[in-house]
Amino acid sequence: MQIYDCFAPFYDLEYGHKDDDIDFYLDLAEKVKGPVLELGYGTGRIGQLVAGLGKDVLGIDNSVEMLKIARQNISGTKEEGKIRFYCGDMRYFALKQKFSLIIIPFRSFLHNLTLSDQSAALNSIKKHLIPGGILALDIFVPIYSVISRLEWDDEITPDELAESDCQISIKVHVTHEPENQILNISNTYIGQNGSKTVCTMRYRYIFRYEMEALLQAAGFQDIQVWGGFDRQPYNFSSGIAVFTAKNEKN
Ligand SMILES: C[S@@+](CC[C@H](N)C(=O)[O-])C[C@H]1O[C@@H](n2cnc3c(N)ncnc32)[C@H](O)[C@@H]1O
Repeated sequence: MQIYDCFAPFYDLEYGHKDDDIDFYLDLAEKVKGPVLELGYGTGRIGQLVAGLGKDVLGIDNSVEMLKIARQNISGTKEEGKIRFYCGDMRYFALKQKFSLIIIPFRSFLHNLTLSDQSAALNSIKKHLIPGGILALDIFVPIYSVISRLEWDDEITPDELAESDCQISIKVHVTHEPENQILNISNTYIGQNGSKTVCTMRYRYIFRYEMEALLQAAGFQDIQVWGGFDRQPYNFSSGIAVFTAKNEKN
């Protein structure tokens, strides 16, 4: 059982309408030749649109339940023949194929919880990029007003969801381990009839120069960082950092 197996039935409801990052990833995909690999594929929010450009996409995710929904989402669509799935771990995958673009949208990289997880993922990625191939990912930036706290609650109301008439509300409880740079997130999904499903996940947040150092240590070149998906200059208060980096050319 992987962490997102629990989130899977609610994922599209909570994030299916997130669209701020779409143009950024589609623009990169449009510019490269050959297939695109998405790590932490989820239910296909981005990968399906990449396939819609006519690109062959491989989606890797370690959650069987997320990939089940991803398959349902493309069933009968024109993208169906363009996407393949592989249930695997971004830290340890080994494929014969190489890619000109590997993307990790929506902070999936932060599910690598230790330095060795982060390094293993970047080393696996590098092995699967063609010379000069591009890695693109985004992470949230741990702004001080958020990480000055050790514990907090939040709520997502039905009108913030993809279908506002679904009558599900989400209570979020977060605990923070500053010494480990870990946020423990617990979402309680409350249905109209009062039913409750509790799902938990952990993120290890990463600072801007920490991410750059990780990429450099893994041998990536031409590392670029932006403060958002319009490629605006990096700005700590934007709450987001978007990275691209290249595999060395032979
Ligand atoms: C925040 S979701 C992002 C999904 C999708 N990329 C999107 O943008 O909507 C994170 C995804 O990463 C997957 N994931 C987490 N850790 C992983 C790992 N070690 N290897 C592969 N997938 C992982 C989860 O199962 C989940 O589907």
